[in-house]
Amino acid sequence: MTLQEEILKLKEQYNAVILAHNYVDGAIQDIADFSGDSLELSIRAKNVKAPVIVFCGVRFMAETAKLLSPESTVLLPNPDAGCPMADMASASGVCEMRKRYPDAVYCAYVNSTAETKSQIDICCTSGNVENVLNSIPAEKEIVFLPDRNLGSNMGAKLNRKMTLWDGCCPVHDAVTPDHIRAARALHPDAEVLIHPECRPETVAECDKAMSTGGILRYVKESEKTEFIIATEYGIMHRLQKENPGKTFYHIDPPIICHDMKKITLEQVRDSLKYGKTEVVLSADVMQEAVKPIEKMIALPAK
Ligand code: 13P
Ligand code: SF4
Repeated sequence: MTLQEEILKLKEQYNAVILAHNYVDGAIQDIADFSGDSLELSIRAKNVKAPVIVFCGVRFMAETAKLLSPESTVLLPNPDAGCPMADMASASGVCEMRKRYPDAVYCAYVNSTAETKSQIDICCTSGNVENVLNSIPAEKEIVFLPDRNLGSNMGAKLNRKMTLWDGCCPVHDAVTPDHIRAARALHPDAEVLIHPECRPETVAECDKAMSTGGILRYVKESEKTEFIIATEYGIMHRLQKENPGKTFYHIDPPIICHDMKKITLEQVRDSLKYGKTEVVLSADVMQEAVKPIEKMIALPAK
């Protein structure tokens, strides 16, 4: 029996559902029930109603699944798969900030820990950030955390002043305007699609900034045939698989999130076989952290 067959058998045996982020290895996306961006995965986790969810992504995503599906056992196949940006903000840091900006609305990118989420007002993902920020009354001050790049990019787009936390995704922050210019010089006919976790000056060199799910949808609907992709390399798998007639160039040097690459097929099998590693959150954190996520999901989609 191949490893893939073994996983599918165990999945059936435990009535489990496998969710995978668009950045994990293609082989893992291929055995998953669903691959998607953070927003799509949150919605799936809420609706899935399976006794076991194997979450192939990083810790904050598995925590979000647990918050939205508290009755399910949520497994993160590699407990070391974290997100450095999520660790750049803390619940105590938010409490300190609240002393300085007591009347502000605290909006946290979903890339934050469950503990941090327990102290904020509303969550957003890169797929719904515009909608979430527009739902906050114009006269309200906003503190946005932890991603200063996503915050600046959206603040500029929506003409909204925000107090930004000084965090970022080290993987996307390292992409420079020169990397984009070099890719354009090589492929002048290609459209350049970037993730809004990149710096504003880098985003300014590109044609469109979108979530990973947004990029996948846009490419499918576009009449263009060549694209330069400025986000984590794992997205190339679905882009190529779902659009066989189109050509994709990843930028150089490649954008790789080593945390997303920590999950292997062997670990997915072992997570099902031995129940490794269960996401456990305290009842207090769960009770508070789910509120800003539910608030985000309840907003009418635009
Ligand atoms: P998406 O929600 O766009 O998939 O992004 C998640 C992420 O971690 C990007 O680095
Ligand atoms: Fe975190 Fe960046 Fe990796 Fe996304 S790509 S999981 S933001 S470190």
